[in-house]
Amino acid sequence: MERTRVLSSLWIFLCCFNFHAVKGAQPNILFIVADDFGWNDVGFHNPGMLTPNIDKLAYGGIILNHSYVEPLCTPSRHAFMTGIYPYKSGMQHLVILPEQPYCSPLNLTFLPQKLKQLGYATHMIGKWHLGMCKWECTPTYRGFDTFLGYYQGQEDYYNKTVLGGLDFRDGKDVVRGDMTYSPITYATRADHLISKHNKSQPMFLYLPFQSVHEPIQVPEKYEDLYPNVKTEGRRKYSGMVSAMDEAIGNITESLKRNGMFNNTIIIFTADNGGWPTFYGNNYPLRGGKTTVYEGGTRASAFIYGAGLKRTGYTYDGLVHAVDWNPTLVAAAGGQPDVGIDGINLWEEIRSGLESKRTEFVYHIDEVLTLFEGHEAIRVGDYKLIQGYPGPYPGWYKPDEVTADQTIDYRPANYLRSYQKDNSSIDIGAELFNIKDDPYEHNNLAREQPALVKKMQGILDEYRKHLVPAMHPPNDKKGNPANFGGVWTPGWC
Ligand SMILES: *[C@@H]1O[C@H](CO)[C@@H](O)[C@H](O)[C@H]1NC(C)=O
Ligand SMILES: *[C@@H]1O[C@H](CO)[C@@H](O)[C@H](O)[C@H]1NC(C)=O
Ligand SMILES: *[C@@H]1O[C@H](CO)[C@@H](O)[C@H](O)[C@H]1NC(C)=O
Ligand SMILES: *[C@@H]1O[C@H](CO)[C@@H](O)[C@H](O)[C@H]1NC(C)=O
Ligand SMILES: *[C@@H]1O[C@H](CO)[C@@H](O)[C@H](O)[C@H]1NC(C)=O
Ligand SMILES: *[C@@H]1O[C@H](CO)[C@@H](O)[C@H](O)[C@H]1NC(C)=O
Ligand SMILES: *[C@@H]1O[C@H](CO)[C@@H](O)[C@H](O)[C@H]1NC(C)=O
Repeated sequence: MERTRVLSSLWIFLCCFNFHAVKGAQPNILFIVADDFGWNDVGFHNPGMLTPNIDKLAYGGIILNHSYVEPLCTPSRHAFMTGIYPYKSGMQHLVILPEQPYCSPLNLTFLPQKLKQLGYATHMIGKWHLGMCKWECTPTYRGFDTFLGYYQGQEDYYNKTVLGGLDFRDGKDVVRGDMTYSPITYATRADHLISKHNKSQPMFLYLPFQSVHEPIQVPEKYEDLYPNVKTEGRRKYSGMVSAMDEAIGNITESLKRNGMFNNTIIIFTADNGGWPTFYGNNYPLRGGKTTVYEGGTRASAFIYGAGLKRTGYTYDGLVHAVDWNPTLVAAAGGQPDVGIDGINLWEEIRSGLESKRTEFVYHIDEVLTLFEGHEAIRVGDYKLIQGYPGPYPGWYKPDEVTADQTIDYRPANYLRSYQKDNSSIDIGAELFNIKDDPYEHNNLAREQPALVKKMQGILDEYRKHLVPAMHPPNDKKGNPANFGGVWTPGWC
């Protein structure tokens, strides 16, 4: 009788947790996000950038040439974690500001939660920016076994404070006194996690770097790598990129030292385009962070490693930020959720097959501010933009931040001039053929009214699922002054 019970519970165990049977085949996943990182800010797009470690992985893996993200930090991170378009979750407008009492909806399943169900150890190092007004919103409660990093959108790279509050935690514990430049802190943490990892379990490490978001800060030795760059800001920014690259090299070495490298998938992606005001560069793409032009949304990205069947080439298929959730769940041997926006592209990407994605929503944000109030979709080769595309409408070369002297690209002035005279925005819409015109020089809206109308119809269908943006006023209850000078959950 005992024996039967033991056998039957064993059977249940085998039946219901059969992922154990394929455990050997489950890859480790290292998901790297570079913050505000431009198209033209990486060696494999621009030989002037010194990123040997990134380039080696990119050239040995698959460079993703049409990998799209949202135009801003919070919406892209929401898409990475949930596989759902931000506009369907009320997460589309701007980013979560430090004292805003909201977060990514708590009824959504995050990627690490899915991977935990598949047997993964799950870790996060870096920037969260998906809300922190209550503990349930934070990484520790959303699927991560460990967390070292910060909750808000930016902070000082050394002292880890922003707006007068310390924002740095290990799990739920405040970390005080760490004055190390953040990519070094992160690489050190990654090495600890990798070294003490139980190798019989697969590992997921989500690594959204602070780099290279403003403030523009870097130890001198990295800046000194770019004596030829004239503008001080661009020189420092370039150094920040190389410091991040060194951190990635160190983490790669740690994976090798610990025998995990050849069973690891590495994904590298920007969260949005470079920010022209802070020396990020997307040339020759148009626009930048906050715009729905390609410079704000077409990410520098690659995938490397375990399970890839064809490598050393550039993948031209469409990939969107929402696709990583189901794609990585599939790579981990699981069943992607149904009813999400993301498409499982694992087989297509790893074998170099045509992408199953043929259209996507760049962004829908119904709230007009200095930065947003626009809609854009892609259908095949065509892209439709409606409304205010965002500031930075031009093409900016590195080291020449104000290259386009005819347009005052500062957000407030640009919005004002756009509102006064937006006649360049033919018939209220812009239409581009991204295949023929990837840099968005030729607005076809006037020539192709029938296509505009058709695309507007498709956009109308997408917009039916809009959940109005959550963008509550700041709440002083969240101020770190109420929590001993530390940004702390527990005020919503
Ligand atoms: C989450 O909650 C929102 C608001 O109540 C609801 O509209 C949405 O369908 C829910 N999503 C899921 C996946 O349960
Ligand atoms: C941290 O550095 C910033 C400059 O980036 C400075 O304004 C702030 O006072 C510093 N905070 C602490 C606690 O040292
Ligand atoms: C990389 O590792 C070297 C050697 O341990 C160390 O000196 C350097 O600071 C590390 N760099 C980063 C960015 O982690
Ligand atoms: C590692 O994980 C395996 C499987 O989960 C477990 O059996 C083993 O005891 C673990 N080893 C250590 C040292 O924790
Ligand atoms: C990974 O590396 C280990 C030792 O370095 C080797 O034994 C194993 O066969 C390799 N696995 C694959 C899939 O290449
Ligand atoms: C021009 O801007 C105004 C104010 O934002 C807006 O109401 C109007 O629809 C815009 N016109 C076009 C053609 O985009
Ligand atoms: C990447 O896309 C661009 C168009 O934006 C195209 O010109 C280029 O040939 C593509 N790269 C490769 C290697 O396919």
